[in-house]
Amino acid sequence: MREFRKVKVDLGDKSYHVHIGENIVDLLPEIISPFVTRKKIFLVSDEAVGSTILPRVRKILEDSGFELSVILVPSGEKSKNFEQLQILLSELLDNNIERRDIVIALGGGVIGDLVGFASSILYRGINFIQIPTTLLAQVDSSIGGKTAINVKQGKNLVGSFHQPKIVVADVNFLSTLSLREVKAGFAEVIKYAVLGDRSFFDWLSENSKKLLKLNTESLIHAIETSCKMKAKIVKEDEYEQGKRVLLNLGHTFGHAFEKSVNTNGEGQSILHGEAIGIGICLAAKLSEDFEESNIEDSIAIEKLVADFGLPTNILDISKNLKISEVIKFMKHDKKRSDDKNTLILLKGIGEAFIHNDVKDKDLARFLNNQGLKK
Ligand code: GLY
Repeated sequence: MREFRKVKVDLGDKSYHVHIGENIVDLLPEIISPFVTRKKIFLVSDEAVGSTILPRVRKILEDSGFELSVILVPSGEKSKNFEQLQILLSELLDNNIERRDIVIALGGGVIGDLVGFASSILYRGINFIQIPTTLLAQVDSSIGGKTAINVKQGKNLVGSFHQPKIVVADVNFLSTLSLREVKAGFAEVIKYAVLGDRSFFDWLSENSKKLLKLNTESLIHAIETSCKMKAKIVKEDEYEQGKRVLLNLGHTFGHAFEKSVNTNGEGQSILHGEAIGIGICLAAKLSEDFEESNIEDSIAIEKLVADFGLPTNILDISKNLKISEVIKFMKHDKKRSDDKNTLILLKGIGEAFIHNDVKDKDLARFLNNQGLKK
């Protein structure tokens, strides 16, 4: 028996379901049918997914009588910019997209964010469906309606809230990823456990080996549990006025490391999830400085991150990062320039809270204690 799960993102008349399962993409024609108004569907993907998963999705839809207009964008974070947004909007319009049509985003977080943003502004908003193909996108970016592109001042600074009509997470897609990408995806899964679910943390500790081997049953449980927590937080705070900020655990450090390593890391590179894994470990350690959390919890978190084959220390990635630069990027990430930094800290495993007043000098001292250069 194939296992299918459904998680509801309860947002009143914008509610939708995340469909999770093994080969669940086979059911796509049935799942999307309530949302299609004609047999023509627009599907946007990237070049990497275009050569692996896209042929199967195309066949499933075409065999059910849909006519597909497929648009491919170059793979990678570099596509999340104004230029690609404009190209994508032009291609959709040139292919005669209509106000009541639906666009499918088939890919990782970059495709989901770009297509979601394009859908939110085309004709002042059209419907879209997320079919996330990476673990990171299946547990995080495809759910909750955040869409964005990057600008030179920082990541995700231009965007909108635009909820998808459906999310379809097929665990079989994860076998197309490299082991490095799979491990990086687990950083977001670990995030949910650390911020709000101690028993999920223990379950992840017991099941890391099975999960890294992509055991279907374990994956479905990990994805469903993560999606449920995200859905609960998004329901309470769709527009990130409060509680949703907790989902940024590890991200303020993480985004700053991504930006510094990928621009000045002298040839080194870091994936989003790798940076987030390190960011979560640092958030735990910084919580100790504020006498909120204890060293045992920090050690357990670091062990779990390491069990998933992820780096736990930024110095293992690059020894050249400067504290002033990291703090500058942390400020851009949080869209503020004063001396106060908002960080998600821990009272313990499963108990995250928002600290709105972490001073620059305390951050600088902390990063210096972690071995970063002045
Ligand atoms: N990825 C964090 C959020 O959706 O709020």
